[in-house]
Amino acid sequence: MESSKIGLIGLAVMGQNLARNIASQNFKVSVYNRTTETMTSFIEAHGSDNLVGQADLKEFVESLESPRKIIVMVKAGRPVDLVISSLLPLLDKGDTIIDCGNSHFPDTIRREKELSEQSIHFIGCGVSGGEEGALKGPSLMPGGNKKVWSELEPIFTAIAAKDFSDKPCVTYLGNDGAGHYVKMVHNGIEYAVMQMMAEAYDVLSKSFGLTAPQIADIFEKYNEGKLQSFLFEIAVPILRQKDDLAEGYLLDKILDKAGQKGTGRWTAIEGMERGVDISTIVQAVNARIVSSRKDFRTELATKYDNPSVGKQLPTEALEEIIKELESALYAGMLLSYAQGFDLLRAAAEEMKWDLNYAEIARIWEGGCIIRAQILNTLHAAFEKSNNAPLWTIEDIVADLQESWGSLRTVTILGAQSGAPMPSLSAALSSFEGMSSARTSANFIQGLRDSFGAHTYKRTDREGTFHTEWGN
Ligand code: 6PG
Repeated sequence: MESSKIGLIGLAVMGQNLARNIASQNFKVSVYNRTTETMTSFIEAHGSDNLVGQADLKEFVESLESPRKIIVMVKAGRPVDLVISSLLPLLDKGDTIIDCGNSHFPDTIRREKELSEQSIHFIGCGVSGGEEGALKGPSLMPGGNKKVWSELEPIFTAIAAKDFSDKPCVTYLGNDGAGHYVKMVHNGIEYAVMQMMAEAYDVLSKSFGLTAPQIADIFEKYNEGKLQSFLFEIAVPILRQKDDLAEGYLLDKILDKAGQKGTGRWTAIEGMERGVDISTIVQAVNARIVSSRKDFRTELATKYDNPSVGKQLPTEALEEIIKELESALYAGMLLSYAQGFDLLRAAAEEMKWDLNYAEIARIWEGGCIIRAQILNTLHAAFEKSNNAPLWTIEDIVADLQESWGSLRTVTILGAQSGAPMPSLSAALSSFEGMSSARTSANFIQGLRDSFGAHTYKRTDREGTFHTEWGN
């Protein structure tokens, strides 16, 4: 039997769909799963000359063309290490393992190092797009040895989504953990954007008493303008979904506790570690943490009376607020991207990754969860300005200048109507801090010097100073 071009281990939905995508592009793929029944039923449903299953790991490895290329698509963490150690005795020098899960980048760096010592190549490849993306074209974020990557490129290029110019949403990002780092930041931005959308939903409902389908109509319009994006697209049917188990709309019955698997938290921690303000992302993670404390929240809600809740605005104000909200969301999203790219820049410098920000924006134009019109703007801006920090690029400055006021209007509205806006207000604070030549940190320095003789610097002369305050 003809050998397969590539193998794939891990047949949860993402793995299944990725394998089907590869086979549909005319690359023969062998699949293996720890639980054989999953593999058997998958092959029964989707098997073909290009998609074959093996029940035995050794036979799976032997079914592959040499040097072997094996995609691992299992849960991040220990399962990846377990798969790697079960594969190792069966591999030859020069074979490549490609981790397509949401692995934490330090793990990818470690694995690449450990495996290279045994002459096995390791590529950490972020894959975004959920189940549908995996099947019809994901955005792919590979990192690792460039030469090894070039051997995988034809397959990965064929299965990737397309950007706005119909080019594949895949680009080599850098050594070792670069791909998984970029995917982690992608997810951090995903958290911030989703949080801002939830804040918009909340304020419309609290300030005007709008129902889910009424908000759907507004979001549908947003999706025809500068907020056009996959997330707004899927938000509309979610808001319109009728409950099939009870009266009313399903969204109103969904428990308000947001789950998280870790990528947003890793991004938030990275921001702190590297001293980069990614507050829109940090606040989005925080909002999920607050949401998870349902019992405590419910108890506190009986103890405090929030005078803002229930105070609705007159409907005449709605039209104007819809416009302001659109503009505020645009500013907020631009700022969450600016923060995400700032983090990438800081990491790239330290890790010696030669990241190309225009390329990153480009490969996020299609396939991934944060795909949006805005990415085309960012891609063009980075290209025109030689990858300068987003905040400084002329077109982005003009966009932020125009939309920044709406961020203020909307966060005031949120405060007045008892709709918390952690990410949108973080965007406003971050922007106002970053674009101020002078902040209030002089006051912090005064306090630090007073209680701890930590010293301070002056704006009008060189040197380090300490004052006996009050004397
Ligand atoms: C993607 C998604 C995907 C996953 C998130 C969900 O790019 O396809 O980001 O990787 O849906 O990791 O993350 P949470 O469960 O933490 O929300």
